[in-house]
Amino acid sequence: MAFPFACNKCLLFLVVLLHASAAIAATALDNSIDLASLLAFKAASTSGGGGTVSDNIIAANWTTDVPSCTWVGVRCSWQYPPRVVSLNFSSFSLQGTISSHLSNLSFLSYLNLHNNSLFGTIPDALGRLPRLATLYLGQNLLSDPIPPSIFNISSLIYVSLALNNLSGSLPTQVLLPPIERISIASNFHTDHIPADLARCSTLQEIYLSENKLTGSVPSSLGNLSELVVLALGNNQFTEAIPTSIGNLTKLQYLYLAFNHLKGKIPKEMGNLVNLQVLHLHVNGIAGSIPISLCNASKMIVLEVSTNNLTGPVPATLGKSMPILQKLQMAENALSGGLDFIAYLANSKDLNILEVTTNQFEGVLPDAYGNLSMNLQYFLVSLNNISEKSLQDWGI
Ligand SMILES: *[C@@H]1O[C@H](CO)[C@@H](O)[C@H](O)[C@H]1NC(C)=O
Ligand SMILES: *[C@@H]1O[C@H](CO)[C@@H](O)[C@H](O)[C@H]1NC(C)=O
Ligand SMILES: *[C@@H]1O[C@H](CO)[C@@H](O)[C@H](O)[C@H]1NC(C)=O
Ligand SMILES: *[C@@H]1O[C@H](CO)[C@@H](O)[C@H](O)[C@H]1NC(C)=O
Ligand SMILES: *[C@@H]1O[C@H](CO)[C@@H](O)[C@H](O)[C@H]1NC(C)=O
Ligand SMILES: *[C@@H]1O[C@H](CO)[C@@H](O)[C@H](O)[C@H]1NC(C)=O
Ligand SMILES: *[C@@H]1O[C@H](CO)[C@@H](O)[C@H](O)[C@H]1NC(C)=O
Ligand SMILES: *[C@@H]1O[C@H](CO)[C@@H](O)[C@H](O)[C@H]1NC(C)=O
Ligand SMILES: *[C@@H]1O[C@H](CO)[C@@H](O)[C@H](O)[C@H]1NC(C)=O
Ligand SMILES: *[C@@H]1O[C@H](CO)[C@@H](O)[C@H](O)[C@H]1NC(C)=O
Ligand SMILES: *[C@@H]1O[C@H](CO)[C@@H](O)[C@H](O)[C@H]1NC(C)=O
Ligand SMILES: *[C@@H]1O[C@H](CO)[C@@H](O)[C@H](O)[C@H]1NC(C)=O
Repeated sequence: MAFPFACNKCLLFLVVLLHASAAIAATALDNSIDLASLLAFKAASTSGGGGTVSDNIIAANWTTDVPSCTWVGVRCSWQYPPRVVSLNFSSFSLQGTISSHLSNLSFLSYLNLHNNSLFGTIPDALGRLPRLATLYLGQNLLSDPIPPSIFNISSLIYVSLALNNLSGSLPTQVLLPPIERISIASNFHTDHIPADLARCSTLQEIYLSENKLTGSVPSSLGNLSELVVLALGNNQFTEAIPTSIGNLTKLQYLYLAFNHLKGKIPKEMGNLVNLQVLHLHVNGIAGSIPISLCNASKMIVLEVSTNNLTGPVPATLGKSMPILQKLQMAENALSGGLDFIAYLANSKDLNILEVTTNQFEGVLPDAYGNLSMNLQYFLVSLNNISEKSLQDWGI
């Protein structure tokens, strides 16, 4: 009875042996593809501009007499055979282009080329990396449109292409990877926000600030229920803030400043109870500050200066924002009394209060003396506030 058992063991041993020898054969093959990819990357990314070879850490370190997995910036898997899984060349002074041969690193999941002087187009072939989860190409000199294939990588989670010279429209009609953070800020993109973006339901952070994007802030963004950061400032967006923004109840940071937005601050924004920073300054937003905004009890910065806001400031605004640090409402047409200032005594960390260039009138409430000890700027001039009142407070 012991014999068949022993024979099973023998078979198992044989199978293991066969696997091992197949793996050894594969090693040579797989490493040669990874090696060739890395060498092509080195050649392109150190080629400099105008035919010069740039002097950097890769050029000195990557010697072929040691395994490529020991090269600086390269990390391989522990599996057998080892494969390149991570490339981190952040701040390596690379000067050249990004080789399309990187697309042959089929186990690569992390690619960080942030803060170098890489120029030219982002290779379309990068879209063939089947396991890529993190792609950081920010702070380079990359130009031309983003190849749509990038957003076809089904494993992609974090993308930053910020601070480059990228231009053209943002990619449309792509698959929907499980992206959580996308930053394309500080480039030269034109045209509308693609409708596809609102179908990436896993998105938590969107940074598209400092481009030349036009059209409206799409109402469909209200579908992105996981969104924590929405930064669309410094573009050329027009129309009103969509009321669907009130659906983004996890939102903490909303940056829409420096656009051409019109319409009113939607009262639905009162649903954004987790909002900490609201930047709406330098737009053409009209109407009054909705009372519902008092729901944002976690607010730290409320900046609505340089708009066309009218009407009184909700008196209890300050009362409901105990950790408020900055309240900036200058250059609007806000009117009514300054009672709301009394309630700001509740905001112990308040350090900037700007109500300059509005149409407030009346007297400063006595409670002005109770405002935060941290207050550094309190600007009230160019309002219709009683001269006597201002003198009383030594302003
Ligand atoms: C290359 O860099 C690695 C990691 O920093 C280091 O261990 C190795 O000694 C370097 N090799 C050479 C030839 O400079
Ligand atoms: C990549 O390198 C940068 C700069 O050295 C470092 O801050 C970052 O943590 C590295 N990333 C990983 C995943 O090791
Ligand atoms: C960018 O890289 C350079 C070295 O090339 C370094 O001096 C600089 O501090 C880095 N900047 C950032 C923001 O990481
Ligand atoms: C590697 O990638 C490049 C460009 O994407 C391609 O032309 C080349 O055939 C690939 N090489 C291998 C060995 O797969
Ligand atoms: C990047 O764009 C800026 C501004 O348009 C331009 O001055 C610069 O020459 C561009 N650089 C490259 C490498 O394309
Ligand atoms: C995206 O992937 C799909 C399915 O694999 C393919 O049909 C399409 O051509 C790809 N698009 C791009 C821009 O790579
Ligand atoms: C997204 O929102 C729009 C309305 O703005 C709606 O028509 C559309 O069906 C929504 N899409 C999804 C996938 O929920
Ligand atoms: C926002 O939520 C409401 C229900 O709370 C729903 O009817 C509406 O379709 C949502 N809008 C978007 C754009 O998701
Ligand atoms: C504010 O409204 C006035 C007219 O009521 C208009 O002339 C002005 O351009 C508007 N300002 C902005 C920033 O839209
Ligand atoms: C926000 O405030 C409005 C009016 O002040 C109130 O009706 C609404 O229930 C509040 N919403 C939440 C989520 O607290
Ligand atoms: C200022 O604060 C003190 C202590 O909390 C309080 O007794 C006083 O009534 C307040 N003054 C005004 C004018 O609100
Ligand atoms: C300023 O207030 C005075 C008295 O309260 C009023 O007569 C005057 O019309 C106001 N001026 C402006 C520009 O609102």
